[in-house]
Amino acid sequence: MHIRPERADDADAIAAVTHAAFQDHPHSDQTEHLIIAALRAADALALSLLAEVDGQVVGHIAFSPVSISDGSHGWYGLGPISVLPEKQKLGIGTTLIETGLSLLRADQAQGCVVAGDPAYYQRFGFRHNCALTYPDLPAEYFLALPLQTGSAQGVVSYHPAFSAQA
Ligand SMILES: CC(C)(COP(=O)(O)OP(=O)(O)OC[C@H]1O[C@@H](n2cnc3c(N)ncnc32)[C@H](O)[C@@H]1OP(=O)(O)O)[C@@H](O)C(=O)NCCC(=O)NCCS
Repeated sequence: MHIRPERADDADAIAAVTHAAFQDHPHSDQTEHLIIAALRAADALALSLLAEVDGQVVGHIAFSPVSISDGSHGWYGLGPISVLPEKQKLGIGTTLIETGLSLLRADQAQGCVVAGDPAYYQRFGFRHNCALTYPDLPAEYFLALPLQTGSAQGVVSYHPAFSAQA
């Protein structure tokens, strides 16, 4: 498996992987591929990484800047993340997340948040953090991972592209 940043001609393959991964997801409204496109159009895809096997795009992860009501900078939101259904549970998602977090750390990012299943994201160090809130979800599904020693406190907002609709 090979992880690389997205290139200009990857948009369709990323949309296809994302659509396939979320097709049967119980909490998806199938707009994830539109969110990625809107982030790209807004130049807000801070990191967009692909996983390739034998030249086929099998996974993708996006990171975008989030706002925090205390004015803290340097925090990012993980997601959407997608792995083709037939390629799941092979470690591809783990490699995409670990690679993305390493790149954020190397870039001196302050931290990362994710909205998702704690059973999956806790293995990467994400934890429920009382100081960072996201009113749209039950608290246990919003997790944070500080990447530096500084602290942030407040309400977290994702980029407006996350409201992208068909
Ligand atoms: C979530 C996703 C990216 C994980 O990718 P993956 O390549 O299958 O993950 P990995 O192989 O690295 O890890 C698999 C492990 O994660 C677990 N896992 C995967 N999704 C999970 C979830 N939603 N909740 C809890 N555990 C989950 C698997 O059971 C497996 O556990 P094990 O290591 O104990 O066997 C992939 O399942 C996917 O694309 N799902 C559909 C889209 C989605 O749900 N995206 C995330 C929305 S928050």
